[in-house]
Amino acid sequence: MSKLFATKPISQLLSESKSDQGLRRTLSATNLTTLGVGAVIGAGIFVLTGQAAAQYAGPAIVISFLISGFACLLAGLCYAEFASMIPISGSAYTYAYATMGEFIAWIIGWDLILEYLFAASTVAVGWSGYVVSFLKDFGIFIPAQFTAAFGTVLVDIPQIGWKTLTPELTKNLADSGIFTENLPHLSAILNLPAMFIVAAVTILLLVGIRESTRFNNLMVIIKVSIILLFIAIGAFFVTKANWHPFIPENTGEWGHYGWSGIFRGAAVIFFAYIGFDAVSTAAQESKNPQRDLPIGILGSLGISTVLYILMAIVLTGIVSYSFLNVSDPIAVGVDAMGKGLFWLRPIIKIAAIAGLSSVILVLLMGQPRIFFAMSKDGLLPPIFSKVHPRFKTPFASTIITGSVAFVLAGVLPINILGELVSIGTLLAFAIVCVGIVILRVKRPDIKRTFKTPFSPFVPLLGAGICVLQMLSLPLDTWLRLIVWMALGIAIYFAYGIRKSKLRQ
Ligand code: ALA
Repeated sequence: MSKLFATKPISQLLSESKSDQGLRRTLSATNLTTLGVGAVIGAGIFVLTGQAAAQYAGPAIVISFLISGFACLLAGLCYAEFASMIPISGSAYTYAYATMGEFIAWIIGWDLILEYLFAASTVAVGWSGYVVSFLKDFGIFIPAQFTAAFGTVLVDIPQIGWKTLTPELTKNLADSGIFTENLPHLSAILNLPAMFIVAAVTILLLVGIRESTRFNNLMVIIKVSIILLFIAIGAFFVTKANWHPFIPENTGEWGHYGWSGIFRGAAVIFFAYIGFDAVSTAAQESKNPQRDLPIGILGSLGISTVLYILMAIVLTGIVSYSFLNVSDPIAVGVDAMGKGLFWLRPIIKIAAIAGLSSVILVLLMGQPRIFFAMSKDGLLPPIFSKVHPRFKTPFASTIITGSVAFVLAGVLPINILGELVSIGTLLAFAIVCVGIVILRVKRPDIKRTFKTPFSPFVPLLGAGICVLQMLSLPLDTWLRLIVWMALGIAIYFAYGIRKSKLRQ
């Protein structure tokens, strides 16, 4: 028992953080902030906002963004304190090792695979959707059977093209007099574009952290400028009537409009905020981690939150929320601005493609670095901490991560895994918040360049809100989380507990 709860001494962590362990320290505070923005703004805003507004919250999706953003701010403050104290690339895994012991740390490390590796594959599937549609606008068609996960049934809708057949789509089309059973069907084989982007990003990550961050900076500039353009132009097309009623009346069912809908919308939209913590995985490649990591974490969270809220206000003002239940809600917003602005459509798709590319990049950058830290501690085999002699990147774990993500992106049904990613991330956030309270009591003496204000109130509130958001996710998602964790626990007892360096 005492083995399971043995914590890693902070003095040891601090001395590890001072040695570079083979990685190259090149990142500044600006690089770290752009990394955060790179990881955060993606599928959440370009895909989920419209669906959450249409199905759950109406124009009050703006309040959902505020609630979810507030929860992330509380967790972000705790991440910032930890990162300023223990700048090691393992992120929440390392923080748990220092506070709650090896077993919980392993659980969190295993859980982070959901937030990084699985999320990267999920976003790659979203990327594929946008690329297929963008190429189609230019007359380039990718055969439909190579654009979705194996076995996905696709249906060819006149004027629109191949779409995944869902009960909701069948119902919506039936309402407009189109019956899916009369349309051409096919069963997909593999999602090739999704596999392509994972492979391309993995190669870039192997070549170097500097090259990867340069690419990320470019993607971030593209997506943020286009989002600002959309907000600036869209503001002139707002019809106030679209905001009335701001909180549509609840239908009688929990989560369908009204305040319960706002909370449900907040849980769905949480996905949009995932990624700011990825900044902490670049700790050992940062020039001045103790000062710059808190700036990167909180700066990227702040920038993303402001953009999300403005975007949600404008989008729900341009077009009635009831039209937004589509996979490209922002494009629907552009359509509603009238024919004169059709040129903005492909530009919005470019923003989405750039946005999703950077999310995949930063998540696939974070995962090998967490494995790196776990391997240094002996909980994963030594191959995970091998650094390339020339490129100075953790190349073996980057290749392993990329290969698994490559397969998952090709065969993964996106809808199942999105919520699993959210529940896994919420769990990590809750543990980090609790960790802050524990370490303030156990080690008040350690130098903290950044301190979470009003502790223990803020961390405990953060943990509480994360748990509440977890509880609002469906039972299926909980079951999947439990199965995933059971697998992780089995691996720990078969390997990590014997190989841990803490006891050697
Ligand atoms: N926050 C990231 C996204 O929305 C994961 O794509």
